[in-house]
Amino acid sequence: MPRDSFNREINYLRISITDRCNLRCVYCMPLEGLRFLPNPELLTAEEIERVVRAAVSVGFRKFRLTGGEPTLRMDLLEIVERIAAIDGVGDLALTTNALLMTKLARPLKAAGLSRINVHLDSLNPETVERQMRWGTFNRIWEGVMASEAAGLTPIKLNAVVAAGYNEGDVVDLARLTLERDWHVRFIELMPLGGGECASLSIRRYVSNIETRRRIEAVLGPMTEIAASNVSDEARNYSIAGARGVIGFISPVSEPYCGTCNRMRLTADGKFHLCLLNDNELDVRKALRASNGDGEREAIAKILERAVAEKPTGHHLLEGRSTQDRSMYQIGG
Ligand code: 5AD
Ligand code: SF4
Repeated sequence: MPRDSFNREINYLRISITDRCNLRCVYCMPLEGLRFLPNPELLTAEEIERVVRAAVSVGFRKFRLTGGEPTLRMDLLEIVERIAAIDGVGDLALTTNALLMTKLARPLKAAGLSRINVHLDSLNPETVERQMRWGTFNRIWEGVMASEAAGLTPIKLNAVVAAGYNEGDVVDLARLTLERDWHVRFIELMPLGGGECASLSIRRYVSNIETRRRIEAVLGPMTEIAASNVSDEARNYSIAGARGVIGFISPVSEPYCGTCNRMRLTADGKFHLCLLNDNELDVRKALRASNGDGEREAIAKILERAVAEKPTGHHLLEGRSTQDRSMYQIGG
């Protein structure tokens, strides 16, 4: 298992496959001035497969496809099939806004996908329209239902909490866990990329301490569930009698860098060493230069260097994080 210089076991690779999205969440993508990667810059399905094979050879076991919105890639099914077929891939998940899942859930399951995380900030259609823009609650909800029916479970919902938008909607989201065996997780806003979304993320920040208080005031006290996986970024709780789990992901109020187990690959083929810092290592150049011989070793070496150079600690409290990329360009 690859260990970094802080003795963390890094075995989880998050792969962003596009920087495009069919939503425009207020804290993530501005309505104007976006520039997306031209297609030739994106890693192809076959190149992604080569990176995953190299990652498995150095001990990576968990993989996740992210975006932007990964379901916008026309070759998503092929990407999933190629990765799922690799020996040693233990877990393959997808982070999506579920807008297209009514069509894709069953084929994705058949292609070998294990499960999905759905980004949904509220159960109130008006909040969804105001905060996530472009999409509708109903379409997202149908996508979640289709995914559950297709067996892409356990369903995990991720809500990013923003003051003046959905901070009052957290109780209804948490209430879902009473009846359903889902994970409903609340994420603190992080300012990434230095643009208007980053400044909104600072202004609209809500601490998970507050979100938890708000939920407990209505639904009663929750008890912590001991972590089954030390590198789970969420602290998990349940309400008495609930079937599901309430999680808090609190990078700002309670940083979890010490147990970080992940590496990220951007859609244009860079290992991004830490979500909240700018360090990157190019892997695309090696993928495109190689003539086959010893290629897996070359890619594995870059990945091992990326692991060795992985930083720890962030500067969110001083209002600093990655400047060169926004969330939709890294994949959360
Ligand atoms: N702060 C925290 N989380 C964010 N996401 C997007 N932008 C932000 C932000 N500024 C989350 C969304 C998405 C995932 C990729 O990252 O929940 O699902
Ligand atoms: Fe799209 Fe996710 Fe960003 Fe929202 S947070 S705009 S769904 S990439």
